[in-house]
Amino acid sequence: FTSTVRKVLVRLRGSYSLVFMCKFEPDKIICSKKDNPLIVGLGQGENYIASDIPAILSYTRKTYIMNDGEIAIVMKDNVWVTDLEGKPISKKVFEVNWDAEAAEKGGFEHFMLKEIYEQPKAIKDTMSCRITKDGKHVHFEELNWTPEDVKSIGKILITACGTAYHAGLLAKYFIEKLARIPVEVDIASEYRYRDPLTDSKTLCIVISQSGETIDTLAALKEAKRRGARSLAVTNVVGSSISREADQVAYTWAGPEIAVASTKAYTTQLVTLLLLSLYMGRLNGNLPVDREEKILADLTKLPDQCQAIFDQVDFIKGLCSAFKDKEDVFFIGRSMDYGLAMEGALKLKEISYIHAESYAGGELKHGTLSLIEAGVPVIALATQLEVEEKMISNIKEVKARDAYVVGVVQDGDTEVGKTVDDLIKVPASDDFVVPILAIIPLQLLAYYIAVSRGNDVDKPRNLAKSVTVE
Ligand code: G6P
Repeated sequence: FTSTVRKVLVRLRGSYSLVFMCKFEPDKIICSKKDNPLIVGLGQGENYIASDIPAILSYTRKTYIMNDGEIAIVMKDNVWVTDLEGKPISKKVFEVNWDAEAAEKGGFEHFMLKEIYEQPKAIKDTMSCRITKDGKHVHFEELNWTPEDVKSIGKILITACGTAYHAGLLAKYFIEKLARIPVEVDIASEYRYRDPLTDSKTLCIVISQSGETIDTLAALKEAKRRGARSLAVTNVVGSSISREADQVAYTWAGPEIAVASTKAYTTQLVTLLLLSLYMGRLNGNLPVDREEKILADLTKLPDQCQAIFDQVDFIKGLCSAFKDKEDVFFIGRSMDYGLAMEGALKLKEISYIHAESYAGGELKHGTLSLIEAGVPVIALATQLEVEEKMISNIKEVKARDAYVVGVVQDGDTEVGKTVDDLIKVPASDDFVVPILAIIPLQLLAYYIAVSRGNDVDKPRNLAKSVTVE
């Protein structure tokens, strides 16, 4: 059985995680992988094979994380790992330190809702280990960069998929404004095929909750092949991407089970904002008082989430205006444009309502023709720098009788005069406020999906971790 499996594996092409069984050796399961995730859970008198840690969390915390080119021969009492030629490999046991409750709904109706409510803790866990005790500076012990390390970066390439890509879009604003390093952001599946201008002066940042998305992994390999240094922002310790990248900055969100990403996204934003501050200080582009001010606001964020949770009944009440619509538009400028993209993705993923995001200034170049009486428009106006311009955009859609819900910083007096309904998020620095402002959009998407009777945690046609190209 084992030698047959070896003979088969060397002939296989493509990416896979495979499990083999043989009717003549029923007490043995053999597994192997290439580019796709595979773990072996080590129990007492029982062992497990899975693609992901949450699947086995309630049985064991001891795992082998399988690498390409390895074969695990799994029996009830023993696991042997060899290479493709049969040479034994001594694997290190990887101990998972997640809470077992993380893989349970804990009284919430869906994982997504639980994960939305876990954001204050996830954000706190992600940032507190990276801010000095006096609250004045950012330090990334795991990176330990020198000023020269940062000054030698000619360009940053951010590549990712889905929600993680949207976090990358906001990171472009963070890094360019705070550290003054040029940033390009690319969808991982596009980056690979465009013969990119990546070289040894490029820092490639890949963002991935799971650390297993095949396109992101492939983009990372491509950037490395072209000589780039690499940094992974990921949520899963030991994931393929974390092992492939030169360095890793983990988001400490805990396991995210719902397909629609929530706490992974906000912790990615926190990590990327901290990273921008870190780079800005190291390369001398960020004034000390600016760093202190942003950090002061960032540390208030976990408590401020509560002010949004307090509005949940109001947000639920808005659902009836969306529930039976076919199209919803999200508009925003600057960082709110990135936020609009994520808000629209959340809504379409789980409610199946067509949702699109537009940069406020682009409306008049086409989209305005789609706005007619009663079409819902979510107008994100949290960025004070461009507020006036956003108000003009809101007036443009209001003039066509759209139904407009504004999202503003608390205390704003202007936007409220032009919209039909208003969601207020606690006032904060312009860099911090998008992290808060996504939360009402997550809640809105969630309650709309629930009101339509959808399977929120497992939306049709989608997967949590996309390990196929
Ligand atoms: C899938 C998920 C999304 C996620 C994307 C990227 O499409 O449904 O929620 O944003 O993959 O996943 P990653 O694990 O790389 O962040």
